[in-house]
Amino acid sequence: MPVPPAGEGYDVVVVANRLPVDRDGSHPDGSPRWRRSPGGLVTALEPVMQSQDGAWVGWSGAPSTAEEEVSEPFDEGGMRLVPVGLSGDEITGFYEGFSNGTLWPLYHDVIVAPEYHRTWWEDYVRVNERFAAAAADVAAQGAVVWVQDYQLQLVPAMLRAARPDLSIGFFNHIPFPPYEIFAQLPWRRQVLEGLLGADLVGFQRPADAQNFLRACRRSLKLVPRHQGVEVTAADGSQRRVRASAFPISIDTAAMEALARSEPVRARAAEIREHLGNPDTVILGVDRLDYTKGIGHRIKAFAELLDDGLLAADDTVLLQVATPSRERVEQYRLLREDIELQVGRVNGAHGRIGHSVVQYLHHSYGREEMAAMFQAADVMLVTSLRDGMNLVAKEYIASRHDERGALVLSEFTGAADELGQAIHVNPHDIDGLKAAVVQAVVMSPREQRRRMRSMRRRVGEHDVQRWAHDFLTTLRPDLAGQVPGGADEARGDDAEDEHAGQARGEDHR
Ligand code: ADP
Ligand code: G6P
Repeated sequence: MPVPPAGEGYDVVVVANRLPVDRDGSHPDGSPRWRRSPGGLVTALEPVMQSQDGAWVGWSGAPSTAEEEVSEPFDEGGMRLVPVGLSGDEITGFYEGFSNGTLWPLYHDVIVAPEYHRTWWEDYVRVNERFAAAAADVAAQGAVVWVQDYQLQLVPAMLRAARPDLSIGFFNHIPFPPYEIFAQLPWRRQVLEGLLGADLVGFQRPADAQNFLRACRRSLKLVPRHQGVEVTAADGSQRRVRASAFPISIDTAAMEALARSEPVRARAAEIREHLGNPDTVILGVDRLDYTKGIGHRIKAFAELLDDGLLAADDTVLLQVATPSRERVEQYRLLREDIELQVGRVNGAHGRIGHSVVQYLHHSYGREEMAAMFQAADVMLVTSLRDGMNLVAKEYIASRHDERGALVLSEFTGAADELGQAIHVNPHDIDGLKAAVVQAVVMSPREQRRRMRSMRRRVGEHDVQRWAHDFLTTLRPDLAGQVPGGADEARGDDAEDEHAGQARGEDHR
């Protein structure tokens, strides 16, 4: 692969399965119409890339015709976007198949059974090659290329083979499973070898990095040392690959500013009014995914109504369930289950003009999301397994009034950071019910105490800092060029929730 002449190409290139926007039909004049793509990866990376003069290589979310497979880069939302086309068959084999029918369940505690199909694997290899070639094409000499997530685990090694001049980082947004589970994958060696093409492999939690290093030891007989391994190339040269945790976050300041804006505050009041001004609004916001524990949450809520511990007249569960991966069988079945459950609870406890569960199967703009966070007394995050869960952090960032309570599954990456949330094991329905009651009756003073501590954490550890930490670990010479250093505009970095408690902020 030829290296672009000096001065050409981009110095920072992000490669992700998805572009930050999805193709959403066309305007009347025939020009393409775009809408924001779903999920936490886009939420996190969009503000980082908007502040960089870099390029984002990804898929547009729709099947391409042959001529669109080579569609030209374009600018949108302040970013340079480089589309990679996928045919209908590749969407089936690579995206719905190997990425979301094999890897997603395998990496999320096999909540549903992963399927292993050799044709899906062949599509995964072919599409990873296409992403690697697209990145190699646009990266300047000596550029940093940052590959994202489980859909593209082979790209680092493919890219290194084509462009040894690049610094290559990889970040896994989802958990990396224990070896006993990972070992099921018939192509486990190839996946590890693909990842080891990177100079730095980042994970959400230290446990994920340890699982990865352990897999390298068990599968490839490499010896992990000091959070990394030495790999030997075909020509005998040695290279060190580091693996460690970089917990992802959100654009905290932007989320807070949005939540403080007058239209969002007015909309929050309006939402409560439309819900019938109940005493308690409980909120869930998730992609409609079996990892999110939406069924467990509705079951606990229904039992609390049955038991009379929550009053059906004065409580609403507002559940936003974003459409996701709708052609994958397990997601279709989940939707049927959840909608049946919602119907049952509303049938048993609703009355004319009042549904106890308001179920919304739509995407919303950021303003509307911020207004929902403001309108909610209790936020429920009950994931059975979740790399991070940015919704939890968004709720915290939106609550500038220091009100509201967060119930948070201990199986999220966010639980490691948000020690002042009410932690739950969502499989324990009685424990979940008790946590919901605790959140509903929590005093304003206690809400404030917990919120302050969590807001401090999310304020200091935002997505700009995450990107800064990752990129400067990969390439220390980038310090000063990448915004988000810990000392920038965040005040005293040494302050954390424990420091707050030590100063006596616990006023109970
Ligand atoms: P995941 O990445 O698994 O979807 P996260 O909680 O980490 O889970 O990130 C989800 C992101 O998608 C958040 O930024 C959240 O605000 C956003 N989101 C979820 N549902 C919707 C929706 N219906 N409309 C708009 N944004 C949504
Ligand atoms: C999670 C994954 C992302 C993915 C997003 C939305 O956040 O980590 O890689 O983009 O979900 O899923 P989708 O399949 O719609 O891209």
